[in-house]
Amino acid sequence: METMLLKGAVVRDTVFAELREQVVAAPRPPGLAVVLVGDDPASQIYVGHKEKGCETVGFHHVTHRLPTDTTEEDLLALITALNRDPAIDGILIQLPLPVGIDQSLILRTVDPRKDVDGFHPENLGLLVAGTPSFVPCTPKGILRLLTHYEIPVAHQRVTIVGRSVIVGRPLALLLSLKRAVGNATVTVCHSGTTDLAAETRRADIVVAAMGAARFLGPDHLSAGTTVIDVGINRVEAPERKRGYRLVGDVDAEAVKGHVAALTPVPGGIGPMTIAMLLENTFEAMARREGLA
Ligand code: GUN
Repeated sequence: METMLLKGAVVRDTVFAELREQVVAAPRPPGLAVVLVGDDPASQIYVGHKEKGCETVGFHHVTHRLPTDTTEEDLLALITALNRDPAIDGILIQLPLPVGIDQSLILRTVDPRKDVDGFHPENLGLLVAGTPSFVPCTPKGILRLLTHYEIPVAHQRVTIVGRSVIVGRPLALLLSLKRAVGNATVTVCHSGTTDLAAETRRADIVVAAMGAARFLGPDHLSAGTTVIDVGINRVEAPERKRGYRLVGDVDAEAVKGHVAALTPVPGGIGPMTIAMLLENTFEAMARREGLA
């Protein structure tokens, strides 16, 4: 079976083109503030992609790069200032935060109207209630990618491996909502799931979001399955100049030719996350301007 590659980078380009047009027609460019605490190498790269995305679509953007030993108090003061800043529509606190900082407190401090990541308890609560406002970017990007490639979701069995607040949990909620791209039968698995392969094999769509390099292989996946690989893991690659390469949570080489469709890493879900972040930021601007 030929495996169709679900190229998020292509869909991202379409979303960016639409956003560029919307920005030109808007009363002012949307503004995004990104807060990065510490020197986690992966976070530095993600933040770089977010900055580049803002440049491409013509958003105003500011990145606050703070040292690892930043105090919770200083971080709270910065968020309070950004909440009040009229030029800022969206605030993104890059996760993970360094140990010692209360992540939950930080996320609760972001004004829910500027919470373009959808991690504030108010926005998560609205999702649970079935009336979502800002939806977390990776789950939203997964739905958009499935829609683009016309992969049915309603009445399908979806198994999600990973229950993080960034991906697994909000995605399970979204997919189970009674709406056009929803109505799925969702199972959420995790590292302690008994007989994980039995859960993934009976799914029509498998979402790998547990952060374990090349963990899911052919034994976990039935022919005909659509596989969404959210993982971005570094593995050593001495032949490469930078010494590593990026692989997903799925053993892509081993499952190609076996499953129906697969998102590549890189170039699959990563670009979709950025595209949805910028869409959410435009939405935040439109709401603040009374346009939406
Ligand atoms: N770290 C990994 N993914 C994400 C994301 O989508 N948003 C934020 N803020 N941090 C992340």
